[in-house]
Amino acid sequence: TQSDVFYRPTIHFSPVTGFMNDPNGLIFDGTYYHLYYQYDPFAPYAGRVHWGHATSTDLLHWQDQPIAIPETRDGEAYSGCTVLDAKNASGLFDAGQGGMAAIYTRASPHRQAQYLAISRDNGQSFTEYAHNPILDIGSNSFRDPQVMFHKPTNQWVMVVAKSRLHQIAFYASIDLIHWVHLSDFGPSGLFGVDYECPNLIEMALEGGGTRWVLFVSVNPGGPTGGSITQYFVGQFDGTRFVPDDTVIGLTDFAKDAYAMQVYGNMPRDEAVSIAWLGNWQYCQELPTQSWRGIMTLPRTMTLRRDFAGWIRLAQNPRGLEALRGPAIPFAARRLAAGSSAQVALPPGTALDLSLSVTVDERPHDLPLGDKGRTGRFVIVFGNEQGESLTIGFDAFSGQLWLDRNNLRGFAQPFFTGQFSTVLNPDDRHFDIHIVLDACTLEIFANGGLSVGTALIFPAGPLDFLRLEASGAGATIDALALYPLQKVMQR
Ligand code: FRU
Repeated sequence: TQSDVFYRPTIHFSPVTGFMNDPNGLIFDGTYYHLYYQYDPFAPYAGRVHWGHATSTDLLHWQDQPIAIPETRDGEAYSGCTVLDAKNASGLFDAGQGGMAAIYTRASPHRQAQYLAISRDNGQSFTEYAHNPILDIGSNSFRDPQVMFHKPTNQWVMVVAKSRLHQIAFYASIDLIHWVHLSDFGPSGLFGVDYECPNLIEMALEGGGTRWVLFVSVNPGGPTGGSITQYFVGQFDGTRFVPDDTVIGLTDFAKDAYAMQVYGNMPRDEAVSIAWLGNWQYCQELPTQSWRGIMTLPRTMTLRRDFAGWIRLAQNPRGLEALRGPAIPFAARRLAAGSSAQVALPPGTALDLSLSVTVDERPHDLPLGDKGRTGRFVIVFGNEQGESLTIGFDAFSGQLWLDRNNLRGFAQPFFTGQFSTVLNPDDRHFDIHIVLDACTLEIFANGGLSVGTALIFPAGPLDFLRLEASGAGATIDALALYPLQKVMQR
């Protein structure tokens, strides 16, 4: 249909047909980045889950590959990971050979257990281990294993969700086949209904050192509704994860980034993630017919101390510069209070907007009637039909909002539209990087400390960009607007 084409992203991965949710098995094999994903090839709804597969050499241009792991009589192929068993610790490869192994959940209505499969052709196809499951605790809510090699203790460590118990279980193995229980973490942070898709990684802290970060996806029960990914910063000693404090972070201030996974086997331990750009609250009702499901852009992740000294996750899109076409001329420099500047947008192309803005100081001697006045800087993507997508900054509280309510392509009770976050409460300056691609919006503010990911469904093309200063003037310290070259051939 027309909406299948109109809403199809041009630089984000989406399946040709069928339904896609979580990214799975993210791994770099030395040449290719693999993206496996939860996939129903038969219908644009969740069900009959297989592992779909695509490969890339830059995390942006993706090549579709055959289904890697099918649904079987043992159940659907739920989320999981891949590892490189380079030294044949499993003993499942031919003598002197290693290869890729997948550890994932098989789910049937009454049982969820962890399965192992190996690939002798570099991740193209997988053969199930003959004595599956490798880990079964007689539960129907035990899923989404992530496995990594923990060098200090020289063993594989698995994190896996005991979903309804709101716990993340830790197991260890030397052969990927036999697993010993180490510890449990949680309930902690958000309660919600199910804990899903845990990820544990050691990440660089900007300025020096590292921390272990445990990501836990929760659904439903996110503060913005439905699916959300929370994270804990702490230490992992090979047995137990201990958070530094009782504070939790959220990977997103909006509601369409879920089940985030981090790439394994990256050079220099670079932390790169991809999440599902969706939410269980409405993913099966989105206004496309033949396909549903989108992945976020790949994101580089680091840890950084915020204005108050807390260690927080910073995420920024990775490698987008390579897709930039010639800059769209837009010479806005200074906006007086109440004024705006506008530019026409090229049709059908993804856009990359970076802005750095300082809003004028609030006058100290405002007359009584103006005491409540604040200064806002507003970024509007709109059209002549009166639709608008708005991202705004309130300078006197340091908060940012995102408003997708004034778009008319989709309505559903849970498809709420307004989200906000605080950047820095004492700062009239903000920087923002916005990527708009068909029905997706990703916002990276404050150097990536505040990230908002949102599905957006305008009824017609958003064909202008307008910048508005309201209540106070603003100086645009830097502005760059680029079209992004289409990379997904769909
Ligand atoms: C998360 C999730 C996982 C499960 C998969 C099923 O979105 O519910 O817990 O493995 O999706 O597709």
